[in-house]
Amino acid sequence: MGQIKNTRILDVLKGSPVDRTPVWIMRQAGRYLPEYKKTRKKAGSFINLCKSPDLASEVTLQPIERFNLDAAIIFSDILTIPDAMGLELKFKDNHGPYFDNPLDDISNVQNLNDNDIDTKLNYVSEAIIETKKKLNNEIPLIGFSGSPWTLSTYMIEGSATKEFRKVRSKIYNDKKMLQTLNQKLVNAISNYLIMQVKAGANILMIFDSWGGLLNTENYINFSLDPMKKIIEKLRKNELTKKIPVILFTKGGGNWLKQITDSGCDAIGLDWTVELSAARKTVGENICLQGNLDPCALHGTKESIKNAASKVMDSYGFGHKHIFNLGHGIDQYVDPDNLEFLINHVKEYSKRYHQN
Ligand code: CP3
Repeated sequence: MGQIKNTRILDVLKGSPVDRTPVWIMRQAGRYLPEYKKTRKKAGSFINLCKSPDLASEVTLQPIERFNLDAAIIFSDILTIPDAMGLELKFKDNHGPYFDNPLDDISNVQNLNDNDIDTKLNYVSEAIIETKKKLNNEIPLIGFSGSPWTLSTYMIEGSATKEFRKVRSKIYNDKKMLQTLNQKLVNAISNYLIMQVKAGANILMIFDSWGGLLNTENYINFSLDPMKKIIEKLRKNELTKKIPVILFTKGGGNWLKQITDSGCDAIGLDWTVELSAARKTVGENICLQGNLDPCALHGTKESIKNAASKVMDSYGFGHKHIFNLGHGIDQYVDPDNLEFLINHVKEYSKRYHQN
């Protein structure tokens, strides 16, 4: 493999200085892009799109062709893992992903197969290999997975529900079931992430989208601890031991200190956290990623500029910030507004990187 040309994000993750703040956008390949909608139509469904390496690779590159971002993220979904383990993933337009037969008890968990993930998710591997070829080492490629807790929520609830009563109740009435599920997910996710690096991913990100539903004790036991175990497994593997890991717990602003101790290289922040305060809490040895409110992209150019500048001002001088939104970009955003944001970040952030 050759050397990557734009190393800004890798540099930031290593603690080396950069000329400006690097930027990529969660869900950068998505429905706000007309070209994504076109490819998705060609695929026939969201799931077909995920499972067709050619088309998944095509949509991965669409935002890169448009915007000149500092990283690509492989197009896929966090729910391919439960699908590979035996819960068939389905998808309804304007409703999202769901499972017909969510997990009710430990016997359901015992029936899940957490082995042979590489074989079952080979389509992700192929998409990564193809994407790496087309990227031609211009920018790094991010691989990802959902966290064990976030995958558990979908696997037990069946879909994203309002209160997540079923999965949260399991903590109190069937701890054993959750612990058994966690063990299987830690195994499957670690192997999945290693597979992605084998295929060419340069950075890994763990999406813990629903960790923020928990109280501190439960977050530590059922979300952070299993993520820590995954990071430990990555660190013990020759191939992945030096691959940077970004950990994003949405709603995790109260636990930044504990997240820092997980062994991750960067913490993703949602927009409810003040970057300057987060930086004070976590110290100077770890990077921060985020955290513009995605809805800021529905403002005027002037207000987008102000909101983004505030994020960069809040971090201030220093080289350990990766600009991103605080959560995924939504389907109603005008791509021109995103282009405007990205250009502003590149220009404005230079002032914070003068030696
Ligand atoms: O960031 C990227 O560009 C990579 C692609 C990516 C997708 N999903 C594509 C997608 C990534 C990293 C994900 C992760 C993911 N998937 C998460 C964690 C991140 C987060 O947003 O909190 C979660 C919780 C999921 C599960 C999921 N997939 C939901 C809840 C939905 C429906 C929500 C919606 O926007 O309708 C999806 C579908 C999905 N995943 C879409 C995309 C582009 C939209 C699908 C479509 O209709 O084409």
